[in-house]
Amino acid sequence: MYYPFVRKALFQLDPERAHEMTFSQLRRVTGTPLEFLVRQKVPAKPVTCMGLNFKNPLGLAAGLDKNGECIDAFAAMGFGSIEIGTVTPRPQPGNDKPRIFRLVAAEGLINRMGFNNLGVDNLVENVKKAHFDGVLGINIGKNKDTPVEQGKDDYLICMDKVYAYAGYIAINISSPNTPGLRTLQYGDALDDLLVAIKNKQQALAEKHHKYVPVAVKIAPDLSEEELIQVADSLVRHNIDGVIATNTTLDRSLVEGMNYASEAGGLSGRPLQLKSTEIIRRLSGELAGRLPIIGVGGIDSVMAAREKMAAGASLVQIYSGFIYKGPPLVKEIVTHL
Ligand SMILES: Cc1cc2nc3c(=O)[nH]c(=O)nc-3n(C[C@H](O)[C@H](O)[C@H](O)COP(=O)(O)O)c2cc1C
Repeated sequence: MYYPFVRKALFQLDPERAHEMTFSQLRRVTGTPLEFLVRQKVPAKPVTCMGLNFKNPLGLAAGLDKNGECIDAFAAMGFGSIEIGTVTPRPQPGNDKPRIFRLVAAEGLINRMGFNNLGVDNLVENVKKAHFDGVLGINIGKNKDTPVEQGKDDYLICMDKVYAYAGYIAINISSPNTPGLRTLQYGDALDDLLVAIKNKQQALAEKHHKYVPVAVKIAPDLSEEELIQVADSLVRHNIDGVIATNTTLDRSLVEGMNYASEAGGLSGRPLQLKSTEIIRRLSGELAGRLPIIGVGGIDSVMAAREKMAAGASLVQIYSGFIYKGPPLVKEIVTHL
């Protein structure tokens, strides 16, 4: 009800300042009597995916809570799953500011954050303190200064550290803001990475006596042929799920708008159809052999339904949540 007012105030501020202020307020109210300000009741809509039980099919997408600082606040808003990260082995500052821009008329965002995060050890400490009883995804990546040929090692280091605490682990090879990262989506580099990840998952499953599914997050900018190859690799390596999609480099839908020529990944409504199309084609290739988590421009129940109709088993939101706030969570969970 009050989100439009909150948004009006937040949108007066630089986007990153608005983010910091919101997080500081969320941390302040969580676990106190003031938590009612963020808590809302949503109906139970249980769904099983990747062998995990989700309270409902709506998740918070990666990148909003990179360090896992506000898990309980997002849980109170009704998300069935929360994907924290992307986290890297070592803390890193990310790119220079400003690095996030609102394309308000299109309800889009462009960001080139560059995996600013406090490192995997800090994230694990935050997860230990959280009380969330839904599915916690932990999204992992590589440090900017790790050469891409050694990127695999960064994923394995993060897997080691987060495995015991994750509901699932998301492998981010699709951010456009870490030089070279997206090359891991292709050919031998992808096969090599997935072999190492599967071996690590098996070793950790034995060590911890629990199986934590691994999902790979892909870009929307893959050609038809590349998408077929990615799908084939995911199936051959027995990956547990695929998250489609990350942000796009395509600017055709926001041409001429303010900030449209800023470098980075575009998300929000302009990405909606493109990511749905990727999901549809991926779903055709995968033919149910692994589940798809659909993300990209979901800003309404209808947009969420379209992702599911295209083949997604679960959906996630980020930009839509910035524009519409917690009421969007309630609306989608209630009507999906
Ligand atoms: C500011 C910002 C930061 C993001 N950071 C990450 C990230 O660290 N890791 C990741 O996998 N995706 C990241 N994403 C991508 C989102 O998780 C999501 O895939 C994408 O924005 C499309 O969904 P949306 O249109 O609902 O925002 C980020 C998106 C935005 C807008």
